[in-house]
Amino acid sequence: MRILVVGGGGREHALCWAIAASPLCTKLFCAPGNAGIAQVAECADVGAEDIPGQVSLAQREKIDFAVIGPDAPLVAGMADAFTAAGIKVFGPSKKAAQLEGSKSFTKELCKRHNIPTAAYERFTDLTKAEAYITRQGAPIVVKADGLAAGKGVIVAETVAQAVEAVRDMLSGNRFGAAGAAVVIEEFMEGEEVSLFALSDGEHVLPLAGAQDHKRAFDGDKGPNTGGMGAYSPVPILDQATFNRAMSEIVLPTVKALKDEGTPFKGVLYAGLMIGKTGPRLVEYNCRFGDPECQVLMMRLKSDIVPALMACADGGLKHFDLRWSSDAALTVILATKGYPDAYARGSEIRGLEAAAKVEGVEIFHAGTKAEGGRILANGGRVLNVTALAPTVQEARERAYRAVDLIDWPEGFCRRDIAWRAGIPRP
Ligand code: AMP
Ligand code: GLY
Repeated sequence: MRILVVGGGGREHALCWAIAASPLCTKLFCAPGNAGIAQVAECADVGAEDIPGQVSLAQREKIDFAVIGPDAPLVAGMADAFTAAGIKVFGPSKKAAQLEGSKSFTKELCKRHNIPTAAYERFTDLTKAEAYITRQGAPIVVKADGLAAGKGVIVAETVAQAVEAVRDMLSGNRFGAAGAAVVIEEFMEGEEVSLFALSDGEHVLPLAGAQDHKRAFDGDKGPNTGGMGAYSPVPILDQATFNRAMSEIVLPTVKALKDEGTPFKGVLYAGLMIGKTGPRLVEYNCRFGDPECQVLMMRLKSDIVPALMACADGGLKHFDLRWSSDAALTVILATKGYPDAYARGSEIRGLEAAAKVEGVEIFHAGTKAEGGRILANGGRVLNVTALAPTVQEARERAYRAVDLIDWPEGFCRRDIAWRAGIPRP
């Protein structure tokens, strides 16, 4: 099969790495890809959100199966465009991708089907929102209803902060159209984890759990980022909690979507809050997490291609995947300044030596090759990922590799997996 992966980050590098290892894959393309992906796939210069461009690339290259990595093209309907062109695709339709693209779509679905999540109301009117916030009190969570690149959520410590956030969003200054409506939610206490499961629209195949690190600096300090590191498995998401989240949250969601005529085919990424009363849904995403995907791919022992295809074909019912009992951990190297302004083009050295550390794979998130050199070309740049019998050993291996990378313009967190009870360095 000729396979196309859409995207160009660390998640797509990990997917390409796993797909390239499949005997079912005869030729692998990735668009736009990056310098690391170019080592396992042929990269084409087509933007991840360019729907006509990706479809015509697939037609030109006689692609049999397209795998869409990021959320934005899914929410914009890229899967529907591939399907309309007669190309098999991994990823939900535009309608089903509302699960990520619209907070109120998901909150209403949860309400209709009794799926445990934070209590909420949706507002387009500032006065009504203000009255609600005053009634509920703080802490309280304010969210832009639309897709806001992961930045549309304010956890407000005070009523005044919450009102300010709503005013900012509704005025359109802060998130444009994504903020035209706001969702105001109860603040949930607990520990956050991500759970992943494949769905073919009817059947569900649980994958595994992982935990992201969203803040830029050690100890979960500093601004929110796309994710600075992850590990899997996660001790707090033990088997019993995992099963409960599947039966109380994920399965009812897949059934509800099917019954309502919007079957979800692809990977469900459930952001969960594990609190005193058990798991509750924070949010859904309609694609693999980045960087959670990187640790999942390291632990997956089975061929991923038939599983992804079964999502498109409706064949997940009798499917099984084998997982390594080892732990995987990834450390993100980002350009200094990220998630705010940063410079591109600094040179990264020492990658060959780092990649030789036992159990280590280095996925590229934002790099380009120029005259035999590897240059930083983004905020998140490298994902140094390690597999080992324990999380602690995986962390040691990952940082051993990190320390062999010579890139003064980059930085990373040193405490990935501290919530798993591993002492901070
Ligand atoms: P979201 O984009 O919905 O995942 O929100 C981003 C982050 O805000 C989450 O990862 C949580 O850390 C936090 N958050 C969102 N909703 C809530 C909530 N209802 N209670 C507590 N924290 C939340
Ligand atoms: N790791 C966070 C995300 O992929 O949204």
